[in-house]
Amino acid sequence: MKLTQTVAELKEILTPAYQSKSTIGFFPTMGALHEGHLNLVKRALFKSEVVVVSIFVNPTQFNDPKDLEAYPRTLESDLNNLRSLSDELIVFHPDVNALYTDQPQSRSFDFKGLDKVMEGAYRPGHFDGVATVVDLLFKAVRPTVAYFGEKDYQQTLIVKSLVKQERLQVRIEVCPTTRESNGLARSSRNERLSAQGRIKAAFIYQQLKWVKRRFSSVEFEVIREAVSMAFKDTEDWRLEYFEIAEVPSLELSVSRKKNKKYRAFIAARFEGVRLIDSIALNE
Ligand code: PAJ
Repeated sequence: MKLTQTVAELKEILTPAYQSKSTIGFFPTMGALHEGHLNLVKRALFKSEVVVVSIFVNPTQFNDPKDLEAYPRTLESDLNNLRSLSDELIVFHPDVNALYTDQPQSRSFDFKGLDKVMEGAYRPGHFDGVATVVDLLFKAVRPTVAYFGEKDYQQTLIVKSLVKQERLQVRIEVCPTTRESNGLARSSRNERLSAQGRIKAAFIYQQLKWVKRRFSSVEFEVIREAVSMAFKDTEDWRLEYFEIAEVPSLELSVSRKKNKKYRAFIAARFEGVRLIDSIALNE
């Protein structure tokens, strides 16, 4: 496994791959790797000749400095996990100055409203920060294909929009969400839940599956009220949002239109931990 912290060295390592026109698969992460991440690495290894994984906790996408400080940093175990998958992986672990040449700052993008709803509404500036760092990482790696998780569905649309706006030559592959056996989406934040909490937190996915079952027969407004009641009735939960949105526009929907695709999204806090998940309602 090759580990590098600088863009110049990364480019040097990748030069033979650029020259031989090998497919370069890229998986950007903020570390604290869990099984969900590792499944994406396996997919990249299966599909690309050369695989780069980045580990970088990006300051510009955190709107709360305390959240940035509390973000788990587990480099040693991350590297061990990656090494156990393949010793041919290239790991890019820059520090802030290696990636942001100046003060770390977000650029400002126009995502045509994709960044104004849900995660964008609750975490102002978050998606400008994500797009800024993904653009910097793409320019450093120059991948053929980049892997993102459906778990952060809104983020995948932001990245696709970035690629279009910046005319980047990279294909975006969206990979399914890895879940714990009870259905809870795997996340580094799950580690902050108590053992009991981790069992109870599967409630989010249970609600999403209920919404999917009722989607074709029940009005959106009724579904919305039922979900919000269910969270109110269940101790210790704080629902931030429940939305049904048209995809890929993310226009929030109050009723079903013919031939349109929809997805349900939930963000909620449990034991003070913020969890998000979503489900396709009509594939
Ligand atoms: P991070 O939260 O580390 O996630 C890295 C990638 O792993 C994202 O594409 C995310 O959607 C995916 N992922 C996380 N949990 C998953 C799960 N349970 N199943 C499938 N995929 C999962 O997302 C980020 O980092 C950052 O915003 C980043 C894109 C790296 C930019 O800083």
